[in-house]
Amino acid sequence: MSLITVVPGDGIGPEVTEQALALLDGFGLDLTFDVLDHVNADTFLATGTALSDDDLARIRRSSGTLLGAIGDARAAGTRYARDVLLRLRFELDLYANYRPATLLHDRLSPLRDPDRRAIDCVIVRENTEGLYTDIGGALRPGSAAEVAIDTEVSTHLGVTRVIDFALASATRAVCMVDKSNAVPNGGRLWQQCWRDAAAARPDLATSHLYVDVAAMRLVADPTAFDVIVTNNSYGDILSDLAAELAGGLGTAASVNLNPETGFGLYEPVHGSAPDIAGTDTANPIGAILSAALLLERLGHPAEAAAVRTAVRTAVAHLRCTVDLGGRLGTKATGEAIRAALH
Ligand code: NAI
Ligand code: MG
Repeated sequence: MSLITVVPGDGIGPEVTEQALALLDGFGLDLTFDVLDHVNADTFLATGTALSDDDLARIRRSSGTLLGAIGDARAAGTRYARDVLLRLRFELDLYANYRPATLLHDRLSPLRDPDRRAIDCVIVRENTEGLYTDIGGALRPGSAAEVAIDTEVSTHLGVTRVIDFALASATRAVCMVDKSNAVPNGGRLWQQCWRDAAAARPDLATSHLYVDVAAMRLVADPTAFDVIVTNNSYGDILSDLAAELAGGLGTAASVNLNPETGFGLYEPVHGSAPDIAGTDTANPIGAILSAALLLERLGHPAEAAAVRTAVRTAVAHLRCTVDLGGRLGTKATGEAIRAALH
């Protein structure tokens, strides 16, 4: 039996998570769900913390967590995200953020050239270091003489392990992306760790690009990429770009993983989308494909493949939300995908 914790979260989070859970339920696998529906902005605003130590203990006892989205305009700034998302990533050491981007249907590609539309790659983003460690500070804040510093952290351990994970995930090719021509110290470390690790995998095509060139090449010919490994901020940005090339932000799935413990936090790439929350228009595919990643990690690859096929079938028949050219709502799209499974 696998115990899965569920954090529906804010905005469209609960709406898309409901569809992911309905789909998982339909398989009749031995999954039990522990729903933490109080981990949201209301709790944060009322108590100052949304994720208690008890919640974290429940999450630690589970095999993985499905998360909808965290974010609310009433909790502006970084404290709320840090309280939940970043706390989970750091405390559970979820150092590999695995973000696949596979074109769902030809009509969804924004690219002109039909031969270069079929993006099918994975971005592996370092998830515990880089610019997101909150190391830094402000001098003379609020004045015209203010100095603001955010430190970019790269460690030998952190860089090595995420590169090793990317190499282990690939069957064809891995491209390491950095900005070592302008960021000398972290750049040197990434380059050194990359050369050492890549040399041990002569069976893979290994290459390197600077991040600006990688962004350009992703648009020029995304089919050239298999696995991309990069730091926290570049991975954040490139994965949104890749998501848009694959069908749009509403379709993008991800897992924040610790490959050693096997624990994963599975979440769509999109946020809580307050502009459409409560209108039954959110695309549930990002959440559903995140559930497919969970199925895969739990040892159900056939079910995961069936979910991906059902999603493609539904999208091909325009049984999908308006962002993908369909006319269905969130619930009806979830139903259409479940119907396509059988
Ligand atoms: P967002 O991803 O929530 O929305 C960006 C745009 O995409 C909006 O126009 C939205 O309507 C649309 N969109 C997003 N998901 C969609 C879906 N499933 N179907 C159809 N359209 C969709 O990003 P935004 O607006 O920058 O952030 C909103 C809140 O979410 C903020 O509080 C932010 O901090 C938070 N956030 C949370 C994330 C997480 O939980 N991992 C990731 C990104 C943002
Ligand atoms: Mg992002």
